[in-house]
Amino acid sequence: MKMIKQLVIAIGLMLPMICAHAEVDKRARDLAASCAACHGTNGKSAGGFPVLASLDKGYFVAQMKDFKSGARPATVMHQMSKGFTDEEFELMGGFFAAQKR
Ligand code: HEC
Repeated sequence: MKMIKQLVIAIGLMLPMICAHAEVDKRARDLAASCAACHGTNGKSAGGFPVLASLDKGYFVAQMKDFKSGARPATVMHQMSKGFTDEEFELMGGFFAAQKR
């Protein structure tokens, strides 16, 4: 009986952590969805636009910051990067890095 009680407590402690993680995943997916029109679902572009799936997170975040500041030349990405915070770049970067090409 004691073991079951301990197990219940352990699961109870873990649950908020699992939920918090799912929340972050959902937010990242929602953010990334606004890029799908050009870069494809989950960043898997069918051609024409760069593939974002499996892009290195550090590279991704650096590119987004450079687009936002104007340091990297772009046609549409200056506009596309403007509405996001650095934290959101990190979230999206993590999401795209986890996608298979
Ligand atoms: C209207 C089409 C369009 C949308 C929407 C769009 N992009 Fe782009 N993206 C481009 C184009 C075109 C380029 C090539 C650079 C340029 O000309 O702006 C690019 C380039 C990039 C690159 C550089 C890729 C590399 O390999 O260096 C990243 C990163 C990127 N986009 C991320 C995003 C993210 C994140 C979003 C959503 C917030 C997004 N894009 C939405 C069209 C788009």
